[in-house]
Amino acid sequence: MRTLNILVLVCVMLAASQAREKTKCEIDHAITDADLEDLRNKNLTEKLSCFAKCALGANESINSEGEINVSKLNQAVNRWIKLTEEENANLNKCLKTLSPIKSCSDVRHIVTCVENRKVQHLHT
Ligand SMILES: *[C@@H]1O[C@H](CO)[C@@H](O)[C@H](O)[C@H]1NC(C)=O
Ligand SMILES: *[C@@H]1O[C@H](CO)[C@@H](O)[C@H](O)[C@H]1NC(C)=O
Ligand SMILES: *[C@@H]1O[C@H](CO)[C@@H](O)[C@H](O)[C@H]1NC(C)=O
Repeated sequence: MRTLNILVLVCVMLAASQAREKTKCEIDHAITDADLEDLRNKNLTEKLSCFAKCALGANESINSEGEINVSKLNQAVNRWIKLTEEENANLNKCLKTLSPIKSCSDVRHIVTCVENRKVQHLHT
């Protein structure tokens, strides 16, 4: 279930980016039919994680040090999924606890915050 949600988010990011001219991220991480097949197989590959990280970086939601700009990332997430005020508050609280996003697979931590947006984040 968790993996499926991650893939839904990556799919939405892909769809959002494909609606426009190709960005540097899409060129650098050219997503092929084989990658889409991985998505369908609920297989979040390193390549798909790296694309997601690149897309977040391009939107300055994470800076070159991998530090998260919570307000920017929150705005980006709200472009993909419209969140309620409470969900936004929970998401921001969770994002503030994260360490810098250094590797592609660290993107999972952001996705986990998005997935847990309905859950009050108590251990801060
Ligand atoms: C996920 O995709 C990669 C690359 O296509 C492949 O090597 C790997 O075996 C796949 N993993 C699973 C669990 O299907
Ligand atoms: C985060 O993004 C906001 C705009 O959404 C900007 O005003 C702010 O300066 C940024 N913060 C950092 C630390 O870059
Ligand atoms: C990145 O930002 C641009 C312009 O602000 C926006 O059009 C685009 O949807 C954003 N991409 C994502 C994946 O949020």
